Amino acid sequence: MPLPAKSVRWRVLVTGGAGFIGSTLVKRIEREWENAQVTVVDDFRSGHFKNLEGFRGELIAADLATLELERYLHARNFDAIFHLASITDTREMDQRKMCWDNIESFRRILEFARPRQIPVTYASSAATYGIDARVNSETDERKPANVYGFSKVQLENLAARYLQDPEHAGWKLAAVRYFNVYGPGEAHKGAMASMVYQLYLQMKAGKAPRVFKHGEQSRDFVHVDDVVNCTLLAMNSSKAGVFNAGSGQARTFNDLIACLNDALKLKLKPDYIDNPFAFFQPFTQADLSRSRAELGYEPRYTLETGVKQYVDWLEKRK
Ligand SMILES: NC(=O)c1ccc[n+]([C@@H]2O[C@H](COP(=O)([O-])OP(=O)(O)OC[C@H]3O[C@@H](n4cnc5c(N)ncnc54)[C@H](O)[C@@H]3O)[C@@H](O)[C@H]2O)c1
Repeated sequence: MPLPAKSVRWRVLVTGGAGFIGSTLVKRIEREWENAQVTVVDDFRSGHFKNLEGFRGELIAADLATLELERYLHARNFDAIFHLASITDTREMDQRKMCWDNIESFRRILEFARPRQIPVTYASSAATYGIDARVNSETDERKPANVYGFSKVQLENLAARYLQDPEHAGWKLAAVRYFNVYGPGEAHKGAMASMVYQLYLQMKAGKAPRVFKHGEQSRDFVHVDDVVNCTLLAMNSSKAGVFNAGSGQARTFNDLIACLNDALKLKLKPDYIDNPFAFFQPFTQADLSRSRAELGYEPRYTLETGVKQYVDWLEKRK
């Protein structure tokens, strides 16, 4: 589905729109499509109303795993659905809750979208790959190490199952597998906010940034504006399937501390501590070949420029 012209009244449903990435997407849509009609469904379990400051659309504050979408939304004629709502606390160990809430929410969205063949772009995660230390492409085996990643694998399986049905030929369901996202709008996530934000807070308080020995573990840190762009491109594309949304670079925690020192004009040395976790990811990196070739996705930020933009935003906000 091509993205509509900027003047068109684009009718969009965004689930998880009070969250970090969802609210960034909502703001981008309302900024760029001034006649867009955006409906947000979010039950605020981990989102925050401040993220929706200036929001012009309609909000439904409800749990998607139980919401009767037909009753509330049947008359809306959506052109597109972005499904980002999810339990995002990866420390949640209640397997039944994680699976019920995440999978049933998505099933309801798909059942709602199906008769109308509304294209759905939904959030998956690099957590589906597990802790293999390699550059991950979409065809790699999925080996989630926690129940959060497991629930995301089930979303992808569910979408694939619907698409296997010949009745649904041509229906567009696309997953974007986000890597380690950072940027404006994540403060409400507390302990689940990115390492960029956690280390920023420590360094702003004049403390040595604490990382596991010896700071050489790498992550594909990706700016929120880049993953929002990738999400819009995935909706824009005629291709269904799964797409990596990362920076395409693996950068170490030491690199990140250097970027934060530069942006904050500090010279703080890291405090290296023992790693108590047997299953700590040593490395993440997205292979962007498919996203580049099929979506035309190109990340705009390096870690240096992304951290600088984010720190400038954080400093101005005070
Ligand atoms: N931030 C990252 O680094 C990252 C990485 C990989 C995947 N993701 C995925 O991206 C999406 C957005 O994550 P985020 O970082 O913005 O997290 P977030 O916690 O800020 O946003 C999630 C939003 O979904 C809402 N929500 C959760 N369950 C709901 C339900 N059943 N009904 C209604 N609302 C519900 C929450 O209240 C919250 O506003 C999620 O699907 C997450 O799994 C994020």
